[in-house]
Amino acid sequence: MDRSRPDEETITAAVALACRAPSVHNTQPWRWRVGDRSVHLYADPSRQLPATDPLGADLLLSCGAALHHLRVALAALGWRAVVHRLPNPAEPEHLAAVEFARREPTDADVAMATAIPHRRTDRRRFSSWELPRPVLDRLAERAVEEGAIAHEVTGTRDLFDIASAIRAAAAVQDADPVYRAEVRWWSGGHAAVDGVPAANAPSGAPRHGDVRLREFPGGVLLDEQADESADDGASLLLLATSSDDRLSVLRAGEAMSAVLLEATAAGLATSPLSQPLEVAETRDRLRVEVLDGISCPQILLRVGWAAFNADPLPPTPRRPLTELIDQWETA
Ligand SMILES: Cc1cc2nc3c(=O)[nH]c(=O)nc-3n(C[C@H](O)[C@H](O)[C@H](O)COP(=O)(O)O)c2cc1C
Repeated sequence: MDRSRPDEETITAAVALACRAPSVHNTQPWRWRVGDRSVHLYADPSRQLPATDPLGADLLLSCGAALHHLRVALAALGWRAVVHRLPNPAEPEHLAAVEFARREPTDADVAMATAIPHRRTDRRRFSSWELPRPVLDRLAERAVEEGAIAHEVTGTRDLFDIASAIRAAAAVQDADPVYRAEVRWWSGGHAAVDGVPAANAPSGAPRHGDVRLREFPGGVLLDEQADESADDGASLLLLATSSDDRLSVLRAGEAMSAVLLEATAAGLATSPLSQPLEVAETRDRLRVEVLDGISCPQILLRVGWAAFNADPLPPTPRRPLTELIDQWETA
């Protein structure tokens, strides 16, 4: 047995955990090529959402989350991932080449990997309890370790700017018949290995205080705590990077994953919100109004304590690995 590299079973387990990553509309826009000494992550442009994600940022964020999930899974299995991001400028879809180095897993590695199957996007109202400062600081640290910042949206002015950017972006999208058809296609009814199941989406457009979440038509998730008029205790984090190139967006996806897994490990509920980042005008408004033009907004995350009587959410489906792993190379 060659102990200088992970065996096939280890790699398959790590890729399977990577595929539990969150992705926009659960499109899972990734492919994997697995070699003897490396794993390669590719974007699958056929899964880009033309109306929701014309900039292609959601697709890259989703792939960044899968890359971070892969790193976390490998670490818990005893391998440090040595990652070469965007290794080939002539092949833009090739997002990462990952090699392996032996490393004893730490308790923190195991805790992060254990969080992967427990993480869910929870669109329900959270409890009124606010997050303790040490927890918020830990989430911010995870983002910084991945090259991003987690801007805490706290002041009334920031909250107002974010809430109105979400409303403006939703109005642009809802007025577009192609967007409406697209979100309907990826919602509820189309029982499949992808898309957002009806069981994970509240009916109508959930609104928590001033923050409106994306509507997935046909949602049947019961939100017993729903109360549109009141804020819950959720914290809103705006993840941002110093620039807006593809590498930065990929890294922001890794940072998003790191924050979501840290929050899950702490027993918190989470939900990404990308609508105001999908429309160029509101994306720019967040950059100027909330981040003072200094950094580039990538995605919003709602993080909070689930309501004490909230039922556990079912996992969303994933495509079979056989569809996602292109080939086994013996290089
Ligand atoms: C880049 C990105 C953008 C997302 N945007 C939204 C959003 O605007 N609204 C929402 O309710 N969920 C959003 N999600 C969550 C996905 O719908 C969710 O990850 C997917 O359905 C899989 O479900 P899971 O996270 O529970 O595994 C987003 C996820 C990612 C990675």
